[in-house]
Amino acid sequence: MKILVVAGGLTHERDVSLRSGRRVANLLRQLGHTVEVCDLNSQFLPTVAEFEPDVVWPLIHGSVGEDGSIQDLLELVGFPYVGSRAHACVLASSKPTAKSLATIEGITTPAWISLTQSLFRQVGAPAVLQAILQSKDNLSFPLIVKPADGGSALGLSKVSSEDELRSAMVDAFAYGDTVMVEQFIPGREIAVSVVDLDELYALPPVEIVTDDGRYDYDARYNTGRSQFFAPARLTADETAEVQRVALEVHELLGLRHLSRVDLILGEDGQIYLIDVNVAPGMTDTSLFPQAAEAAGSFRDILGEIAAFAVSD
Ligand code: DAL
Repeated sequence: MKILVVAGGLTHERDVSLRSGRRVANLLRQLGHTVEVCDLNSQFLPTVAEFEPDVVWPLIHGSVGEDGSIQDLLELVGFPYVGSRAHACVLASSKPTAKSLATIEGITTPAWISLTQSLFRQVGAPAVLQAILQSKDNLSFPLIVKPADGGSALGLSKVSSEDELRSAMVDAFAYGDTVMVEQFIPGREIAVSVVDLDELYALPPVEIVTDDGRYDYDARYNTGRSQFFAPARLTADETAEVQRVALEVHELLGLRHLSRVDLILGEDGQIYLIDVNVAPGMTDTSLFPQAAEAAGSFRDILGEIAAFAVSD
């Protein structure tokens, strides 16, 4: 089978995407496929036309890419591709939208408020900070500040004072026009990867433990700072419950083929939805590959996803 892996692009997660793309391409080649890796740039469409892949695997992380734009393009040119369709990518890649939809379905997610950069400029930082701290959702320190889309914890801060909140918002706006301020939930970080082919199932949950409690960009991609437990150290009931929530989120957003749902198992015993990834990282330290290895073989699961996507 001829597979075109699309990686890189112009997002803040470009380097991660290139690492994901190289790894997926190498493993698919080991399965006997002819694989080319193409950067998402002006040469993308000419490369697709020349290579004539049986299937395209978009592995762009963040927008433009994970937000449905490349998927729209692939629909237009008529090539089968791996992963969720454009409309589902749009819903999943916006954290506030995914959280709102999950809330309607009764899934718990930390309280949050979204703010645009233009509001921050027009109203002024002091008024915005007061509005956040007096919001109806009763947000209270510590809070998490992050861009409303994008991933890999870029632009994410945990803040415990007004001064920290103000500078964290300025940092987060460097990554996008909308920022979310979210209640920090003490608990355990659990990622559940989902595979959705002939059958829909959740892979073993992965638990992330960092040396200082900060699962930031460095802790994600520089080996050593994080410890991963795959499968997570959960009871059978907890495992079933986090997997149930992940499958529900995957289905309610209308996702396809694969996803990763990031959760917190709170100290209060509640499961909180944090984030949904339609193009989960596939690097050496990423979570989907670890979950897939815990289930059997990452390489075989990649092969199954590609084979299914050709005719989906
Ligand atoms: N957004 C990155 C790639 C991840 O969460 O895996």
